[in-house]
Amino acid sequence: MKTPKRIGILTGGGDCPGLNAVIRAVVKTVIHDYDMAVVGFLDGFEGLVENKFINLTRDSVSGILTRGGTVLGTSNKADPFKYPIFEAGKIEYRDRSDHALKTLEEHGLEALVCIGGDGTMVVSQKLAQRDIPVVGIPKTIDNDLVGTDVTFGFDSALTTATEAIDKIHTTAQSHHRVMVIEVMGRYAGWLALCSGIAGGGDIVLIPEIPYSIDSICEKIKERKYRGRYFSILVVGEGAKPIGGEIVVKKRIEGSAEPLRLGGISYKVADDIEEKIQVETRVTILGHLLRGGIPTPADRLLATRFGVAAAEQVATRNFGQMVALRGNEIVAVPIKDIAGKTRIVPLDSPYLAVARSTGTCLGE
Ligand code: F6P
Repeated sequence: MKTPKRIGILTGGGDCPGLNAVIRAVVKTVIHDYDMAVVGFLDGFEGLVENKFINLTRDSVSGILTRGGTVLGTSNKADPFKYPIFEAGKIEYRDRSDHALKTLEEHGLEALVCIGGDGTMVVSQKLAQRDIPVVGIPKTIDNDLVGTDVTFGFDSALTTATEAIDKIHTTAQSHHRVMVIEVMGRYAGWLALCSGIAGGGDIVLIPEIPYSIDSICEKIKERKYRGRYFSILVVGEGAKPIGGEIVVKKRIEGSAEPLRLGGISYKVADDIEEKIQVETRVTILGHLLRGGIPTPADRLLATRFGVAAAEQVATRNFGQMVALRGNEIVAVPIKDIAGKTRIVPLDSPYLAVARSTGTCLGE
């Protein structure tokens, strides 16, 4: 079997800490171990369609391990199969996959490494169906990709969220308030649940468990009777009340997943104030969670994923996404995981420990 000589790489979807660590690991490994050349496409699949690229060398990835964001840029609006064209204030979608294929051909690329979340894996799968040799690497702060125990970016976002909750504790205590902290995560509650546990949240609301406002207020009152005049409530952006709806912040036309969530924290806070007249404040952590340097755990995972992806390319094991299972890095077929969301299972050990330590889950 002949090892590929030239490969492409891109980052798609929302940015997160660890993307540069992965790019670095892939580039260094394919050059060092396999003597390949690497083309980096700019702004996700947009770079592939529009042929925007830079050549990546050992020098160009030197010093990026610790940097947040992605040196390649990214986009969540550039599906080559449904490519948005903005004209006269209107959007039209066209199939531009032929442009993507032409770009790969022009550069003489024998493989494409796609680093991203579910949207990126869906596009990768469509490329694979057109015989493009792809290898996927799972990233997202939401930790909601099927097939891997964890995505890189999650640990860094969890660290930022936990530090924020720690800091907000002091105001909660000093002012005897309920502090509501909203975290990202879309339809999965991993970030809310894990930061809620790590930050000692009294109430944690996740999309997987619709909440009862009465149960939340009971918890706050019960704490008050015990002399705890403050409460910390952590809520995932996709949470909703029993019988209620998710709060949609806006619609982003041209995006593969157009709905942006956000603002449930205001509803929860208003409802608490109305029901039990306790002073309540809201902090939405938002994109803060995607910024900053990757934690050591994310740097390690990103580096392991990058090296493993390079190995998949070298052995021509295409159509696969590298993944973590236990402490092993494995390869899983992208077709088995694309388009699926890994939400928190109701028998999750995290939910069990939250309940055992008296955390109210709004049930
Ligand atoms: O998927 C990552 C994520 O940060 C989600 O947690 C969040 O809902 C979404 O992206 C925000 O997207 P955008 O950056 O387009 O507003």
